[in-house]
Amino acid sequence: MAGKERMLITGGNPLEGEVQVSGGKNTAVAVIPASLLCDEPCTIENLPDIEDVHALVDILKELGAKVEYEPGHLLRVDPRTAQGDTVSYRNAQRLRASYYLLGTLLGRCGRANVPTPGGCDIGSRPVDQHLKGMRAIGADAEERRGILRASSENLTGGDVFFDMVTVGATVNVMLAAVKAKGTTTIYNAAKEPHIVDLANFLNSMGARVKGAGTDIIRIRGVQSLHGTTYAVIPDQIETGTLMIAAAATCGDVTIHGCIPTHMDALTAKLLEMGVRVNDYDDAIRVRGAGPKRAINIKTQVYPGFPTDLQQPMSALLTTVKGTSIVQETIFEQRFRHLDEIRRMGAQIRVMERTAIIEGVTELYGAPLTATDLRAGAALIIAGLMARGVTEIYEPGYIDRGYEHIEDKLRSLGAEISRDLAE
Ligand code: EPZ
Repeated sequence: MAGKERMLITGGNPLEGEVQVSGGKNTAVAVIPASLLCDEPCTIENLPDIEDVHALVDILKELGAKVEYEPGHLLRVDPRTAQGDTVSYRNAQRLRASYYLLGTLLGRCGRANVPTPGGCDIGSRPVDQHLKGMRAIGADAEERRGILRASSENLTGGDVFFDMVTVGATVNVMLAAVKAKGTTTIYNAAKEPHIVDLANFLNSMGARVKGAGTDIIRIRGVQSLHGTTYAVIPDQIETGTLMIAAAATCGDVTIHGCIPTHMDALTAKLLEMGVRVNDYDDAIRVRGAGPKRAINIKTQVYPGFPTDLQQPMSALLTTVKGTSIVQETIFEQRFRHLDEIRRMGAQIRVMERTAIIEGVTELYGAPLTATDLRAGAALIIAGLMARGVTEIYEPGYIDRGYEHIEDKLRSLGAEISRDLAE
């Protein structure tokens, strides 16, 4: 692996202290494209300094918008100079959320050509519901030769009933419908915090989106959107990952700047394990010392246990005495991190979408490879618990969704660094 970047962790230190969570990745990647729908300049604050944000900033620039970006702080967008309707393959492939430009460009100029997106390889991740949603508001929409295309001379509000709850398609229809003529109703809508945050951002520009956070979202089209300054919500999944890291290392960590109610499903499971969790107004304290009980996890759409925390949580469960059962109901291939953690001595059997984990007393450091963003987070959790040194190759996956994660963990006492393997 000469010259390959790797993260190095010497495990065994309990994490202790206070840490500030960053702005949310999955809200930022919906709000940034939405700024192109505005008819005036707007400012977005509390954006995390992560690869997915950098990619979207580049996409706004390639579409001709005037962009001022201060990493980790704010993004000023003047969409009035944007004239493009096509996203480049190179940029589209950098992240999953590039496909939000389908709804945005359709809503903004009636035409969109977006190469099928990149993003984590956690299953087939089709886009049929996105196309169904575009057609429901009067657009021609298709996926042809690796390009998502949508066009309409006259976007008109309509009803769409999603076959399954889908965050991406819910976001894409909200973006396309906000300036369509008439009312669009989304049934079986996703209810994640980032859906509500997008609705709040759009409404702060004068949109009329009602019902975000419930199964039915109603969007009354408006002619124009005025400028705004908006701060995105904190990252629910980074908060959860830090909570799990505190529990896994038997530490005592207070996470500041989070929204505790967004974490209820994880908090409930940690409490069930015997971990102490205290909610404050905008902080959560997690104390992981003491014996832990094996538990069962079944991922669900919000407000159920989030699929994005299944991977870090299943890493923690590998050292919890007893048998834990993890069912992944959202994606069909989200256990690849467990193959890696087996190399550290974990006892795990995977059958389709169920992992049966027999807790072992100790994991041993080993060379590992991250296969996707949250798999990378899971390997960090395992490395923090393990005896000895763990190497994590392909840490670039982790940089897509976690802002300066080594700095945050080091400030809590972790021995973690990054170098190029000789
Ligand atoms: C979003 O992915 C998140 N990504 C994912 O987070 C997250 O795991 C997922 O929602 C679920 O919460 C972003 O927000 C950028 P879905 P998305 O559409 O929108 C099926 C992370 O780690 N489906 O809710 O792609 C799909 O295959 C990432 O931050 C269709 O069949 O998820 C899946 O089984 C990973 N057809 C299920 O629905 C469609 O047209 C849920 O997918 C769309 C989805």
